[in-house]
Amino acid sequence: AFASETIGDLRKVDNVAHRGASAYAPENTIAAFDKAVEMKADYIEIDVQRSKDGELVLIHDTTVDRTTDGTGKVGDFMFEELRSLDAGSWKGEQFAGEQIPTFDEILDRYHGKIGILIELKASELYPGIEESVAEELKERNLDKPQNEKIIIQSFNHKSMEKMNNLVPKVPIGVLTSSRADTTELALQEFSTYADYFNPSYGIVTEELVNQVHSLDMKIGSWTVRSQEAADFLLDMGVDAIITDYPDYVDPRN
Ligand code: G3P
Ligand code: CA
Repeated sequence: AFASETIGDLRKVDNVAHRGASAYAPENTIAAFDKAVEMKADYIEIDVQRSKDGELVLIHDTTVDRTTDGTGKVGDFMFEELRSLDAGSWKGEQFAGEQIPTFDEILDRYHGKIGILIELKASELYPGIEESVAEELKERNLDKPQNEKIIIQSFNHKSMEKMNNLVPKVPIGVLTSSRADTTELALQEFSTYADYFNPSYGIVTEELVNQVHSLDMKIGSWTVRSQEAADFLLDMGVDAIITDYPDYVDPRN
């Protein structure tokens, strides 16, 4: 059971810190992940991409331009070059010197302390990234996450089908912002390999939540940046809320 639990009439919603507590610290950095732990979120959400020389790194955009002092495509940089970039200053001088983290250092630092929602970002740009992610999980026994909260998700659904074959015990999530993915037929197909259906909140309805649940999947929704959006999703009965502001989702509700 990774998501909603019923205790009396209290429903537990997983509070997922989007790219870390990214309202308060630079997204996809240790500063943002530590902040999420401090704020008692249930999970951190991370975006995984790959350097030119094959290192798995955490960054959201497919270029480094917005969140570092460099310019260019993530996949065109050698790891040491990515590592020398400043991934914190854009968010405030107090974060100067934050580095782009590696996937393996974040697994080591946080597994067992907080859940990890792993997004394979633009995996079509990084052939074979699924095998590398599976390898890192297996090395740490995180492919059998009995007591560990690990989920893998992507907008690239083929990639998630593949991931499900590589690590069948790890819960898989399908990301979408498309209503075309909410038909009964589409949802049934996702349910053959996915455990979570994770839509943008603009397409969430109570009916969708019920449909997803009736196919034995859970539903996590994004990206909360206002109290109103958090309240809406709590009302809809989703299992997980992916938010820049963990404080908008009471972890004890
Ligand atoms: O976890 C869901 C969310 O992260 C998907 O959108 O663009 O923020 O990666 P994005
Ligand atoms: Ca993401």
